Amino acid sequence: MVDIPLIDLKAQYATLRPAVDEAVAEVLATTGFIGGPQVKEFEENFAEFGNYPEVVACGNGTDALELLLDAWEIGEGDEVIVPAMSWISTSEVVATRGAKPIFVDVDPKTYCIDPALIPAAITSRTKCIIAVHLYGHPADLGAIRKIADEHSLYLIEDCAQAHGAFFGEHNIGTVGDGATFSFFPSKSLGAYGDAGAVIAPSPELGTRVRALANHGMPGRRHHHVYHGRNSRMDALQAAVLNVKIPHLAGWITAKNQHAKRYQDNLEDLDPGYLSLPSTAPDCYHGFHLFVIRTERRDELAEFLTAKGVANTVHYPTALPLHACYAEDGYRAEDYPVSVNLGNTALSLPMFAELTDEQIDYVSDQLKEFFAA
Ligand SMILES: Cc1ncc(COP(=O)(O)O)c(C=O)c1O
Repeated sequence: MVDIPLIDLKAQYATLRPAVDEAVAEVLATTGFIGGPQVKEFEENFAEFGNYPEVVACGNGTDALELLLDAWEIGEGDEVIVPAMSWISTSEVVATRGAKPIFVDVDPKTYCIDPALIPAAITSRTKCIIAVHLYGHPADLGAIRKIADEHSLYLIEDCAQAHGAFFGEHNIGTVGDGATFSFFPSKSLGAYGDAGAVIAPSPELGTRVRALANHGMPGRRHHHVYHGRNSRMDALQAAVLNVKIPHLAGWITAKNQHAKRYQDNLEDLDPGYLSLPSTAPDCYHGFHLFVIRTERRDELAEFLTAKGVANTVHYPTALPLHACYAEDGYRAEDYPVSVNLGNTALSLPMFAELTDEQIDYVSDQLKEFFAA
């Protein structure tokens, strides 16, 4: 029986096992479980990977977003512009800060926040725009940066899904006033538990975020200068990430090759039967996910599952339509692209170790389904 997973973490572990086991054993032997040399090394390694001025390791990608909003004291009475399609963290962090998320629909090609719709969403209360590089495709950072500058707004790049992607010659995460990463296990760079990071373009921001993530202590122990919290990366996660970082660029290259193979195999079905992911000119896609769209999504999902091909929906519901925002009375017709994505998107298997045979098998199932 064919069994192709959406992402194969076991296959990846098999390629890294001796190095990962050794790195983990070292942490266990030293019992330095929080902070320490592995975390410092991770910050240096990831900064080098992405050409980032400063990396601040933290507990997860949600915390990373919260830490940036807290560093800029965004809260009660403020508004933050977010895309209407993303993982819930992107808007959740705004609401938990006491601020109001203002949802803007996404672009029908890139699935990232549509810059043309942002100006109409700006008010005197707007403090920040959070741009998500959804599925790994860079948001239109050129246009969004310009809008943020014109209106003196902070720009956060939520890079949780876009490790290794580029906007023009810019590594994603280097255009915003701050950027955030998640290293959730299934991400392109995944830890073996929760982990995240903030990218800080200035040492001042880096120092502040680092202090906020460590109980508001910028320096001396037991001297709490800010209202902080505990959001630290643990050494085991850092040790695993340090083994993986040297492989990351190669994995993203492999994922781009897999995407090309899917696209070559399936081009006759697009348009008409399905829409394949497209990449805007000058962008380098991170392909965290390979998301197709079809009106027959639910039927196709069932068919693929029966054929041993794992698949899932990222994400079925546009953010403003979740129950947690019910009181705000958002209307589906105001977010047509995001709502359509929720009804038609389907994620196919995508991971570096995917074989050509697996891609061809998945593609053949799609052809068979649409031929019927
Ligand atoms: C776009 C986006 N933002 C933020 C997050 C939050 O990351 P974490 O799960 O590490 O808190 C995720 C994780 O899935 C994400 O996809």
